[in-house]
Amino acid sequence: MNTLLVVFHSMTGGTSQMAEAAAKGARAEPEVRVCLLRAADAGAKEVLAADGYIFATPENLGAMSGMMKNFFDRTYYAALDRIAGRPYGVLICAGSDGENAARQLARIVTGWRLKPVAEPIIVCTHAQTPEAILAPKQVPAADLERARELGAALAAGLASGIF
Ligand SMILES: Cc1cc2nc3c(=O)[nH]c(=O)nc-3n(C[C@H](O)[C@H](O)[C@H](O)COP(=O)(O)O)c2cc1C
Repeated sequence: MNTLLVVFHSMTGGTSQMAEAAAKGARAEPEVRVCLLRAADAGAKEVLAADGYIFATPENLGAMSGMMKNFFDRTYYAALDRIAGRPYGVLICAGSDGENAARQLARIVTGWRLKPVAEPIIVCTHAQTPEAILAPKQVPAADLERARELGAALAAGLASGIF
């Protein structure tokens, strides 16, 4: 059975809702095992064991979150040349932008020679004041649906062997 690994970090809940929606979409595919892990709990063992990936992160200070970067720092060289060609998708939760986090993440996984299956899904929470940034987030249902569809598409592709 194929495994889809969903790795995420979230401080105020937005990214975790997106990652959970993607995992839910993927779990509709009975032929695929879905492993949903916080970045702090994911390591090289989980990366090597997976057949496809969804990486989900907030944009913080114009980059992916530190915890997400730490996940890549811990796993990058252990997985290099061992996971080439596997498919992936990206979810970004941002206050106003998100493009830099997406670019940074794409550069890293291009080094792994992973294959993107879709454009990154960037959700903007419009949090720009300190109060809004630190408040718990609720991602709109339509955006969660986009995340769910990404999970479903990745799982369907893994199950059918098209990736
Ligand atoms: C320290 C910090 C820096 C941030 N920097 C950015 C940024 O550079 N660009 C942006 O669009 N949003 C930025 N944000 C806003 C977050 O991306 C936004 O609140 C998002 O919803 C966080 O996702 P989360 O709810 O999963 O933690 C920042 C938030 C924090 C706490």
